[in-house]
Amino acid sequence: MKALVLAGGTGSRLRPFTYSGAKQLLPIANKPVLFYALESLAAAGIEDVGIVVGAHGPAIRELAGDGSEFGLRITYIAQSRPLGLAHAVLIARDFLADDDFLLYLGDNYLPEGVGELLRAGGPAAARLLLTPVADPSRFGVAEVDAEGRVLALEEKPDTPRSDLALIGVYAFTPLVHEAVRAVRPSARGELEITHAVQWLIDQGHPVRATVTTRPWRDTGSVEDMLEVNREVLDGIEGGVEGKVDPASTLVGRVRVAEGAVVRASRVVGPVVIGAGAVVSNSSVGPYTSIGDDCRVEDSAIEYSVLLRGAQIEGAGRIESSLIGRGAVVGQAPRPPHAHRLVIGDHSKVHLTP
Ligand code: DAU
Repeated sequence: MKALVLAGGTGSRLRPFTYSGAKQLLPIANKPVLFYALESLAAAGIEDVGIVVGAHGPAIRELAGDGSEFGLRITYIAQSRPLGLAHAVLIARDFLADDDFLLYLGDNYLPEGVGELLRAGGPAAARLLLTPVADPSRFGVAEVDAEGRVLALEEKPDTPRSDLALIGVYAFTPLVHEAVRAVRPSARGELEITHAVQWLIDQGHPVRATVTTRPWRDTGSVEDMLEVNREVLDGIEGGVEGKVDPASTLVGRVRVAEGAVVRASRVVGPVVIGAGAVVSNSSVGPYTSIGDDCRVEDSAIEYSVLLRGAQIEGAGRIESSLIGRGAVVGQAPRPPHAHRLVIGDHSKVHLTP
């Protein structure tokens, strides 16, 4: 069995971060989302993984390399434009050959791995994982019978026929190649994998689903990222490899990476502080990830994620924030006559009047 991981796409709901980087590289507890996917594929015994990449392919290649770090062999497949999930399968035909494979959407996070999908029994051309959600119209939605046979599927329907959302991990046999060749672009201009699975059903091929209530997240928006970060931090072990001075207090599980420095600060876990980061005269946490080489000075930050090299100085209290690589949040000269901002396209800034 092979795996095809999709790490292209535009990530429009995660702008401005996705202008300069891949959404699948955004960190959860200081580790790229994509790495959790690669680790769970390796844990399931899969060795051959194709990664479909788009505009940010070079950064993904640089970080994931040939896969040996994960115990995988990675083949990169370039997608010229994000023409849809079924299009990504179409262009991976040579890599997939005639093997069964798992399709894994690189922005999906399944902390308990893919074992449940692999263990599901009975003959099927495709197997899906479904989970009940409160807002099914944000996802692919399936109708299933009592035996787990999938009757019909729709992609992001306005009036969903069930509350069962498609999780972004699918098990396919080579029959899917015929299906992805048969589908036509949807209203949003993409070749939908949901339509390819519907095509299999329409041709009389058995498609089965496992309904799960195990944790799962699509990390497609800032709110999702902060929430997944919270969940992952809830499971971390504390440990100090960097330096924490005697004027600082660490409460609960706090991980301070090698080369990080905490001075005159209070850190309330769960919190991770990346290598080379400096936290000084500040209050951090709970549920906060400070990336490598960040600086937090004279500020308070909670339930937030700072990407590598971000700096916060004299910023008062920051909450529920995702702050980009090398971004600087500083203090205005007092009294402020006006806010002075240098902000990328599609950024969101909420100012107190
Ligand atoms: O997260 C689960 C949902 O994922 C399912 O419920 C939906 O049925 C499925 O269509 C998908 O919906 P999204 O709108 O969330 O898909 P998104 O465009 O975010 O793409 C998913 C991943 O695939 C993401 O890592 C980007 C990548 N991708 C996407 C496209 C459109 C590609 O690599 N190439 C592409 O052409």
